[in-house]
Amino acid sequence: MKRKLSKIFAGAAALATAATLTACGGGGAGASGDASPGGEPATSSDITVGVAMPTQTSERWIADGNSVQSGLEAAGFNVNLQFANDDIPTQQQQIDQMITQGADVLIVASIDGTALATQLQAAAEAGIPVIAYDRLIRDTANVDFYVTFDNYQVGVDQATSLLIGLGVLDADGNETDSTGPYTVELFAGSLDDNNAHFFWNGAMDTLQPFIDAGTLVVGSGQTSIEQAATLRWSQETAQRRMEDLITAHYSGGSGQLDGILSPFDGISRGIITALQNAGYGPTIGQGMPVVTGQDAEIASVALIDQDVQYSTIFKDTRLLAEQAVIAAQAFATGNTPEANNTTDYDNGVKVVPSFLLQVETVIRDNIQTVLIDSGFFTAEQVERGQL
Ligand code: BGC
Repeated sequence: MKRKLSKIFAGAAALATAATLTACGGGGAGASGDASPGGEPATSSDITVGVAMPTQTSERWIADGNSVQSGLEAAGFNVNLQFANDDIPTQQQQIDQMITQGADVLIVASIDGTALATQLQAAAEAGIPVIAYDRLIRDTANVDFYVTFDNYQVGVDQATSLLIGLGVLDADGNETDSTGPYTVELFAGSLDDNNAHFFWNGAMDTLQPFIDAGTLVVGSGQTSIEQAATLRWSQETAQRRMEDLITAHYSGGSGQLDGILSPFDGISRGIITALQNAGYGPTIGQGMPVVTGQDAEIASVALIDQDVQYSTIFKDTRLLAEQAVIAAQAFATGNTPEANNTTDYDNGVKVVPSFLLQVETVIRDNIQTVLIDSGFFTAEQVERGQL
């Protein structure tokens, strides 16, 4: 336990300078508390941060990995970045190795948030602070901080955009005179990801009054998160479920289907492929149901631009990476990162101090202002649907 902390404290003076030089502007999870330097000041390059990311099959995690790595390197840390191909044992092994290879701080975006207690116990015994990245790590006391987005709000925003797309709400979110009924289907994320439950709860709290009023009808009757879930957020699994729903409840494609709640762009594209194959579309104006999403993946942004997918939720991974770097700097200088939420993220053992970032809904009309003007994508990337 003490081994790492003494090394970290030795590096505190050097890193405090690095932190001042690299802290990115505005309202971040800065450090609080006193640094406790002792012994010979080390340089920041003596400190290694292990970064465990879930997969490279989704664009967002590649962007997260790259942004965290470059931010840490700019702050003078050594970085050991690993992707686990969405395979739980691979991620467990990678974290075990980071610990044995001498990581001083860990940043972990888990695959299964309940599967890392053994690794984090070893990290605690070695005195390594752990930052949960985007996804909460559950069932362990050994997670020290959590950087993420406002996950409940993501669900609220997804459901709100579904209601706006259907015309139940106007663009400002006020109820219109339209009472439907609109036929919808509901998709959720992977049940082993804590976020999936936040997204679902935010979405269902928003949709339920309209379901109760009969404005929305879930055609299949599948309204529990277990029925709607998509293991590992898989596009193929979502496409298969959509195909099955179309066969069973929409006469193979001729039945009326107005909207689909989708929690992630990869899932949305699986759903849209199934809908296209069954003859829906080609565009929302021409029979394609209103489909939501999340992450502003370039292929989905192009579909939104073409009026095929209705919306996505933009999570600026550059800002999340920045918060992870700031938190790592705080721990590396013997401080505690500043949280802006200390109530909502109970991991089953404790409430983990968290820093939450805000999200933005993207529809066709604001691709330019939100994604292009901010430099997240170029107009050419949106045009061709590829990075
Ligand atoms: C993330 C989402 C992402 C999903 C699938 C969730 O944990 O918060 O942004 O869409 O995983 O990768």
